[in-house]
Amino acid sequence: MTQLDPAERLDTGELRALQLERLRWTLRHAYENVPFYTKKFDDAGVRPEDCRELADLARFPLTTKHDLRDNYPFGMFAVPQEQVRRIHASSGTTGKPTVVGYTGADIDNWATVMARSIRAAGGRPGHKVHVAYGYGLFTGGLGAHYGAEKLGCTVIPASGGMTTRQVQLITDFRPEIIMVTPSYMLTLLDEFERQGIDPRTSSLRVGIFGAEPWTERMRAEIEERAGIDAVDIYGLSEVMGPGVAQECVETKDGLHVWEDHFYPEVIDPVDGNVLGEGEHGELLFTSLTKQALPIIRYRTRDLTRLLPGTARPAYRRMEKVTGRSDDLIILRGVNVFPTQIEEIVLRTDGLAPHFQLMLTKRERLDHLTVQVEAKADTPATRRDAAAAEIVAQVKDGVGVSVDVAVVDPDTLERSMGKMRRVIDKRRA
Ligand code: DLL
Repeated sequence: MTQLDPAERLDTGELRALQLERLRWTLRHAYENVPFYTKKFDDAGVRPEDCRELADLARFPLTTKHDLRDNYPFGMFAVPQEQVRRIHASSGTTGKPTVVGYTGADIDNWATVMARSIRAAGGRPGHKVHVAYGYGLFTGGLGAHYGAEKLGCTVIPASGGMTTRQVQLITDFRPEIIMVTPSYMLTLLDEFERQGIDPRTSSLRVGIFGAEPWTERMRAEIEERAGIDAVDIYGLSEVMGPGVAQECVETKDGLHVWEDHFYPEVIDPVDGNVLGEGEHGELLFTSLTKQALPIIRYRTRDLTRLLPGTARPAYRRMEKVTGRSDDLIILRGVNVFPTQIEEIVLRTDGLAPHFQLMLTKRERLDHLTVQVEAKADTPATRRDAAAAEIVAQVKDGVGVSVDVAVVDPDTLERSMGKMRRVIDKRRA
């Protein structure tokens, strides 16, 4: 194996000792420099020195997206503004954006974990990396960019959009690696085919996909059509950006959390109790090295579970995120995640992997319509059969009745970045 970072070789005992030291520093740093944390800790009756072992973290209060919004724009920063080298922000679906900041050391640590992620995905110094995550306030583009440079790769900062040109750049510049949302990768694959190029003949070997949920079925679809290895990358701006956790290409068995920088916990989202390894719940993160924006027990709203390390033995894995509590559709009392529909759509013959979920209200009851595109050569009889199969499988597997509309090829909105899967027309 090439050149792991020394931190990746720590054994569990060494990693836990490092985490405790960094956690104690972080709690003190947050408490002393961010009035929000001073008050929160005081109200909860805890002080940074009460953290004597990692398990003591459970005594500290949780932080939410609302807390960041309430302190908009810079109220959560723990260093004077002159020390902040960069700002990012995430728009979210409602209200004010959440704003985050980085010191020079934070940006360097971020590049380190991103470089580690790209290497775990199969990237090597000298590879060309096509970055089609958006550049700007979104952390995807610049996060990937600095990491790829740090690893010693040649970066092609394509950003999102201008799909025709993306395909030309990939064809002409011959990158080995692409970093993009899985939904935009599908848009790119369609564009390759529209231009009469078999994407399997491209130079691409590995795709590093994240920023939105995607399923094992989607992995199989992309790997098959593009002739690449598709691996998962996870992160969020409040905690850093991309590179909080990364799947290793040799195992493809969930994402190793870079625990020397980000301490994960999983809680029961209802009562807030910390759950054990292997138990499903909501993922929390506490930053361990961040200067500008230390974050304590941040509620990601992402649902997953922690598993023991494999390819990086000391680093626990998080299972592929199946959904965020924000995307959960409660349809006449039944919980439905868009990823459950994705699994079913992608295994149904004659359909393209493009679908959207439309929520409407009829006679005071919520209805869900799955709109899914037919493949170009699918006959009308197959379309009808496919629709009926989806209705039956959703009823069987998820336990709820939906309508299915199989629409013509190229009629649904295409992703340029994060895909909007659910269109909620219930209030219109
Ligand atoms: O999406 C950071 C990122 C950029 C990650 C590029 C990976 C690649 P935010 O815009 O703050 O940051 O959104 C974070 O996106 O809480 C998850 O709900 C979702 N998300 C990110 N990665 C994954 C993934 C970036 N691999 C939110 N699987 C997170 C599922 C993901 N969901």
